Amino acid sequence: MRLILLGPPGAGKGTQAKMLKEKFQIPQISTGDILRAVDEDTELGVEVKKIMAAGQLVPDDMVVDAIKERIRQADCATGFILDGFPRNIAQAEKLSETLIDMSLAIDNVIDLELDPEEVVERLTGRSTCSNCGAMFHQVSRPPKVSGVCDGCESKLAQRSDDNIETIQKRLKVYEESTAPLKEFYKKQGNLITVEAKGSVEEIFSHVCKMIER
Ligand code: AP5
Repeated sequence: MRLILLGPPGAGKGTQAKMLKEKFQIPQISTGDILRAVDEDTELGVEVKKIMAAGQLVPDDMVVDAIKERIRQADCATGFILDGFPRNIAQAEKLSETLIDMSLAIDNVIDLELDPEEVVERLTGRSTCSNCGAMFHQVSRPPKVSGVCDGCESKLAQRSDDNIETIQKRLKVYEESTAPLKEFYKKQGNLITVEAKGSVEEIFSHVCKMIER
C-alpha cells in the first residue's frame, strides 16, 4: 500500500503515519524528519536549519532526490507512507514521474483537515522524544512524567519551529504551496478527505475504513 498524508502543520500527519506504519507494516517516510537529521555542522545543515526555522520550504531538488532514493530501498517494496511530501505541485509532478518509471502508483492520498486555531493549539503543546521520536501533547497526550518520554525515559524537546510566529508562516506556506495539491489529487481520483478533529484513535479508525473500503 502506498499512501500520502497531506494536511496543514499539526494536523496529525506524523501521529497517523506512525499508526499506519504499525498496522500495515510499511515504512513512514517523513521529509521533515529527514531534514531535521541533516548534520548541523555542515554548510548544507546550516542552510536547511535556517529555512526550516523561517517556516519556508527547502529547495525541491533536495527533498525530491531524497525521496527518489528512499522509495527504491528494499523495505519500500510492499509500500510506504509519505508524510509531508509532496509539498507543492512541482514535487508532486516529480513524484508521479518517478512512480511511473518504477511502474508504481499511489493508492490513497489522505488529506487531514484542521482549522488554523487548532493547529496553533496542537503545535504549541507538542513535545517529542529526542531519542525515539515518540510524540506527546501537554493536553491530549501528556507524558506520565513531565518532560520525560514514557517509552525510553529520554528527555522531551519542543521543535524550534513550533512557536507562534513560525507556525503562522508555515500555515501561510501551506495555503499557498501545499493546499493546491488537494485539487491535483482530486483530479487523479485518489483523494480522501478526513476531518482531523476528535481523538487520535477515532481519526485512525476513520482513515483505515476509508483506505480499506
Ligand atoms: P514537517 O516536519 O513535515 O512539519 P509539518 O508539516 O509542519 O507538520 P508537523 O510535523 O508539525 O505536524 P503533523 O501534521 O505531523 O502533526 P503531529 O502528528 O506531529 O516539516 C517541517 C519543515 O521541514 C517544513 O516547515 C519545511 O521547512 C521542511 N519540509 C518538510 N518537508 C518538506 C518538503 N517536502 N519540501 C520542502 N520542505 C519541507 O501532531 C501535532 C501535535 O498534535 C502532537 O503533539 C500530537 O500529539 C497532537 N495530536 C495529533 N493528533 C491529535 C488529535 N487527534 N487530537 C489532539 N491532539 C493531536
